[in-house]
Amino acid sequence: MGLPITHHPSPITLVYIMNKNAKIYIAGHRGLVGSAILRLLIKRGYDNLVLRTHSELDLTNQSGVTEFFKQEGPEYIFLAAARVGGIHANSTYPADFIRSNLLVQTNVIDAAYRNNAKKFLFLGSSCIYPKFAPQPMKEECLLTGELEPTNEWYAIAKIAGIKMCQAYRRQYGFNAISLMPTNLYGPGDNFDLEDSHVLPALLRKFHEAKINARPEVVVWGTGAPRREFLYVDDLAEATLFLMENYNEEKIVNVGTGKDISIKELAELIKVITGYQGELIFDHSKPDGTPRKLLDISRIERLGWTSKTPLREGIESTYKWFLKNIQDIRR
Ligand SMILES: NC(=O)c1ccc[n+]([C@@H]2O[C@H](COP(=O)([O-])OP(=O)(O)OC[C@H]3O[C@@H](n4cnc5c(N)ncnc54)[C@H](OP(=O)(O)O)[C@@H]3O)[C@@H](O)[C@H]2O)c1
Repeated sequence: MGLPITHHPSPITLVYIMNKNAKIYIAGHRGLVGSAILRLLIKRGYDNLVLRTHSELDLTNQSGVTEFFKQEGPEYIFLAAARVGGIHANSTYPADFIRSNLLVQTNVIDAAYRNNAKKFLFLGSSCIYPKFAPQPMKEECLLTGELEPTNEWYAIAKIAGIKMCQAYRRQYGFNAISLMPTNLYGPGDNFDLEDSHVLPALLRKFHEAKINARPEVVVWGTGAPRREFLYVDDLAEATLFLMENYNEEKIVNVGTGKDISIKELAELIKVITGYQGELIFDHSKPDGTPRKLLDISRIERLGWTSKTPLREGIESTYKWFLKNIQDIRR
């Protein structure tokens, strides 16, 4: 049994331990984040997990979601199901991105509240912050400036999800919390060359160049932009930590607090994959935002920090990639 819901508890003193047999629903358990949360909960001995694949339960379908919550009545919900993708996917399918994400989160948050769930965890993303937010980005910079236009459809949906969690907490006392992870990577990542994020795309590019003995790998831009990357198993630890230790409406950034230039990242991946050819930067291609780094002081004050060094995380991601290469999407 968790503690009763209160509106403004102290985040430090209130600990909200989930029983090992509490009924926990991980929405999106086959995705990058959901599968990491699943691995962690199993490892920690949680044995009453409720899981549905996308084809078993389409979360954009309100009546399906309502029925599922009535039947299963999960007590704790990790919402890791979303329509996710890189710049290309966002700008090609803006309607899908805004529609799916709004529907999924609205259906699940509302059904969780109506079925008296004890606690709900929503995953946002660092792209909710303004394009020109001061770096590192604090939680307070939400809604203080214009969004990056290429993924504003996704970002607007995520902002609506945060606001919905806050509104349900204020009006109904529903214990919904939101966290904002930085760029994630790890086992189960999307390695699609067109649709993926920079780190898995580079891993695959260097791997294929090695296998095909290509003389060079060309990376878009100057390599100067700096980005932050968090190993997905560390994020899973943060979700469990916040599920147990945080009960406030304020959003919480989750990152490493360290950034790396794309050039340094490409050089590191070149070494990890064992590629011997040349690394070339195509300066004629756009660079994007010069720096994107989260301010992680709030989660650090709560008592959590990431633990996997970037090199170690990329090495285990590459091992996973090599093991699963046959099944990897496209
Ligand atoms: N990846 C990152 O770098 C990153 C960074 C910050 C925040 N996040 C957040 O973390 C969350 C999870 O992202 P992820 O990277 O794990 O994405 P992912 O690997 O694409 O996984 C998303 C999962 O959601 C499922 N899903 C999508 N639409 C659904 C629907 N209508 N009904 C049921 N299931 C559905 C997908 O199933 P199918 O594949 O079968 O469609 C998939 O299993 C998202 O909220 C995202 O914003 C991710």
